[in-house]
Amino acid sequence: MAVKICGTGSYTPSYVMDNNGIAKLVDTSDAWIRERTGVERRHIVSKETTVSMASEAGHRALLRAQITAAEVDLIIVSTISSNVILPCAACEVQKALGAVNATCFDLSAACTGFVLAYNTAAAYLASGVYKTALIIGSESLSNLTDWKDRSTCILFGDGAGAAVLQADSRKMYLPKTHSDGGKGGALSLKSRHDWNLLGTEHPSDGDGYFMQMDGKTIFQFAVRKVPEVIREVLEENGLRQEEITWYLLHQANKRIIDAVARHLGEPIEKFPMNIQEYGNTSSASIPILLDEMAQKGMLNAGDKLVIAGFGAGLTWGASVYEWI
Ligand code: UT7
Repeated sequence: MAVKICGTGSYTPSYVMDNNGIAKLVDTSDAWIRERTGVERRHIVSKETTVSMASEAGHRALLRAQITAAEVDLIIVSTISSNVILPCAACEVQKALGAVNATCFDLSAACTGFVLAYNTAAAYLASGVYKTALIIGSESLSNLTDWKDRSTCILFGDGAGAAVLQADSRKMYLPKTHSDGGKGGALSLKSRHDWNLLGTEHPSDGDGYFMQMDGKTIFQFAVRKVPEVIREVLEENGLRQEEITWYLLHQANKRIIDAVARHLGEPIEKFPMNIQEYGNTSSASIPILLDEMAQKGMLNAGDKLVIAGFGAGLTWGASVYEWI
């Protein structure tokens, strides 16, 4: 049993900040950001929240799939930046959509989150536990960003992407995923609840309560591990690189994507990008890209896609999907 993607949707905030806007906040320049990251602008929440963006992306995906909210029996929201802790974002999305029959939970695996949400839903659907899943990646990273830190604030953006999945009789492709908690310090963020009643001090907006990143380490990890896990997933499923039409990588940095293409010996045209428009939106980047490609008519029946995520944890993984 495999799964089919019945519809996709996305939502990005209307407020856009270009690199010149960032250069007013920190010592940087449009030229530096473009050259080192590929980012030209990013969309930033104003009235939106992680939940509202997730709900709208989910709503659009359901419309395109022509599936009613009541038919959804699983909702997974992948996020590290939810505006709610309790109830979980997925339950809030359920409420917004009226998906009264769904079981809902969140998944936290940063930039690998959407790949893991896809794998989790696929396993449930293939085993017959659920019939229709709505998986969503939604992030308001601007709320977790230190806007005085030029090593991070240049990179991130906000948005949400979603896909509706159902079981399908075709052959199921197996995913390949990995984690290395030992290297987690390379990209970290303390919870604002990181204190206890008997502890020393109630936390304030100090060190560690915004994203902290050792960019170089993450960069080198991604360039080494992403080609490796793509080769692994292809070998696992008896596929050759020539059979893959598109590689949808997490949009972390254009130079990472260029390097992965080079390592695999694949033309860069097989690696669609939208990082220039949205920056790095963590678990939302792959589903936003997937939705944009679907809406532009870039995906044809029989196209084999590799989706690959990587980031904090450290976590990384890849999955194969054949478009129908
Ligand atoms: O989503 C998954 C997790 N995140 C990632 O995948 C991010 C991976 N890492 C990266 O994308 C890159 O490491 C960054 C874009 C974050 C940084 O690029 P870099 O090429 O690794 O820059 P760097 O930190 O090595 O800094 C190079 C130089 C330094 O100056 P010196 O020491 O050579 O004089 C920095 O001080 O650039 C300077 N610099 C900047 N200059 C202008 C660092 N940030 C900036 C900036 N504007 N924003």
